[in-house]
Amino acid sequence: MTQDPLVIFTPSGKRGRFPAGTPVLTAARQLGVDLDSVCGGRGICSKCQITPSYGEFPKHGVTVRDDALSEWNAVEARYDEKRGLAEGRRLGCQATLQHDVVIDVPPESQVHRQVVRKAASTRAMVMDPATKLYFIEVPEPDMDEPRGDLERLQEALAKDWGIGALDAPLPLLRKLQPTLRKGGWQVTVALHKDHRDSAHRLIDLWPGYHEGRLYGLAIDLGSTTIAAHLTDLRNGEVLASAGLMNPQIRFGEDLMSRVSYAMMNPGGDLEMTRAVREALNQLAGDLARDGGIEPEQIVEAVFVCNPVMHHLLLGIDPVELGQAPFALATSDVLTLGAADLDLTAANGAARVYILPCIAGHVGADAAAVALSEAPETSEDLALIVDVGTNAEILLGDRARVLACSSPTGPAFEGAQISSGQRAAPGAIERVEIDPVTKEPRFRVIGSDLWSDDPGFSEATATTGITGICGSGIIEAVAEMRLAGLMDASGLIGSAEQTGTRRAIPEGRTHAYLLHDGTADGGPRILVTQGDIRAIQLAKSALYAGARLLMDERGVDKVDRVVLAGAFGAHISPKHAMVLGMIPDAPLDKVTSAGNAAGTGARMALCSVEARARIEENVGRITKIETAIEPRFQEHFVNANAIPHATDPFPHLPDLPDVSFNTGGAAEGGGRRRRRRA
Ligand code: FES
Repeated sequence: MTQDPLVIFTPSGKRGRFPAGTPVLTAARQLGVDLDSVCGGRGICSKCQITPSYGEFPKHGVTVRDDALSEWNAVEARYDEKRGLAEGRRLGCQATLQHDVVIDVPPESQVHRQVVRKAASTRAMVMDPATKLYFIEVPEPDMDEPRGDLERLQEALAKDWGIGALDAPLPLLRKLQPTLRKGGWQVTVALHKDHRDSAHRLIDLWPGYHEGRLYGLAIDLGSTTIAAHLTDLRNGEVLASAGLMNPQIRFGEDLMSRVSYAMMNPGGDLEMTRAVREALNQLAGDLARDGGIEPEQIVEAVFVCNPVMHHLLLGIDPVELGQAPFALATSDVLTLGAADLDLTAANGAARVYILPCIAGHVGADAAAVALSEAPETSEDLALIVDVGTNAEILLGDRARVLACSSPTGPAFEGAQISSGQRAAPGAIERVEIDPVTKEPRFRVIGSDLWSDDPGFSEATATTGITGICGSGIIEAVAEMRLAGLMDASGLIGSAEQTGTRRAIPEGRTHAYLLHDGTADGGPRILVTQGDIRAIQLAKSALYAGARLLMDERGVDKVDRVVLAGAFGAHISPKHAMVLGMIPDAPLDKVTSAGNAAGTGARMALCSVEARARIEENVGRITKIETAIEPRFQEHFVNANAIPHATDPFPHLPDLPDVSFNTGGAAEGGGRRRRRRA
């Protein structure tokens, strides 16, 4: 008796025997092989393309004959004529099994493929989105059969796609009848269902077979900046990215000042809600325009944010987050409609997913960092620091993960710095100071040249040299310490003490002149004593948070440090360590993860499985509230020195042993600061 044909799929290696004449797509489905299809095997979508291989396959123990698959049929021929099928490709829904065969499923035909993206991150995205397109043919109505169009649509979805319950919002129900008739009873529907839903939800529908694409927004809603990535829900590709200043800044620069604003001004919370929602619509509209798509094609949005931003986005008064025990209205995941957030620059039926918060001070942004960096899978003890106005800090390995959030303030983002600015063309981003001559050289965003390279003036003529961004100020302060221009307490020396005329008096203190552009009508860019203080406060808060987690874990060193955040990728590990932002570690063990919160948001946007994973992991993370930990203050004070008053930094070179505190008029470092009554 002859056996049924054997089919072996690569790269999965899945195999099975099926009766001759079985379509390849049917065999793939029965074996659980990841082979895409939008049209349900009707030869319309071409998503099911496969590549059969012929000849000897000793590894699989098969010989594949030339007639292993059925001949090209009319559907394939028509498709090839109209759109073109690449050499060697077949449509999996048309080609049928005749004899043993080895079939490769190319990456673009896999639904759950891994896609490596370079633009927004190098992270591989696993595609398993909540919203997908389905093409179906709906039986026409019949006088003898009184069921409605929606019921017949549901029946077709159940028959072709095994889809059960379906929710259809009223606006789409209104669209249903004309769409079905226009498409001659063929229709493409966008349906949404994530791991928490029991039913699919109708998001949009189009007559006939719809070629269009679906997009989602991954939004990192920070206190200072809002960053969003417009992402293709088929392949995870980032079509466009954009950022905006959070307009809530006008109500207060940091989180607590925004909570105070809400406390002191009746209706102030709603004012802030309105402001951020307007900005989100602007951002979504800009991204759709930049990406060349219609706002209606945006069918999902995923948000990550800290708890105060979370409440203000939702229109929930954040007052409880301003006082112990920092109770959240909810820490759970939220799934909403875009209309609930007044998100009008998107499809009216678009769905919103907000990652869970970890605790009252540790938000969905920290959860997103945990999703992106997966400390729970780390063999060695990793400290992950997401640097922003509020720092999210995670410490963990396979045994246990701890998290806290620390109020660093906006100094690392260039705010509260005398010449500070956002990271934009013209901003100084890299600084070196010669330890002998005390002369600086620097680079600005928009040019690869250093300021002492030939051609620098021409290269920066259009952008100018406008200020210092976050990474620039970190390098400038660290370089000042390395060059002996500033002592361990953070005090800048005078011209006599340091031997450079760049140390100039500024009131009762001194400042370091990094660049003087006044001759050409540009600004004078200084690092002032006030700037150093702002950086000291920020870095002390960051370090103290990390130390608290290390205390809890019972360790005094970590194996590796990951710097994340919008500008995390731009911070030089050496300078961060000289400053004492992070605990001592081998320099090659300090790496950058880029915008980990944004990456986590994209992962949750692209994959329902990622959502389930982070929801489960968040429950296992131990939260530490820095605000009520008595040791936080002690760690904070000790971290004020640069790099640190007591903790050793054996991986750093010896730092100049200078002291500029004459005990007199100049303001001293950190706690030694004296003020006149
Ligand atoms: Fe759509 Fe084959 S499944 S063309």
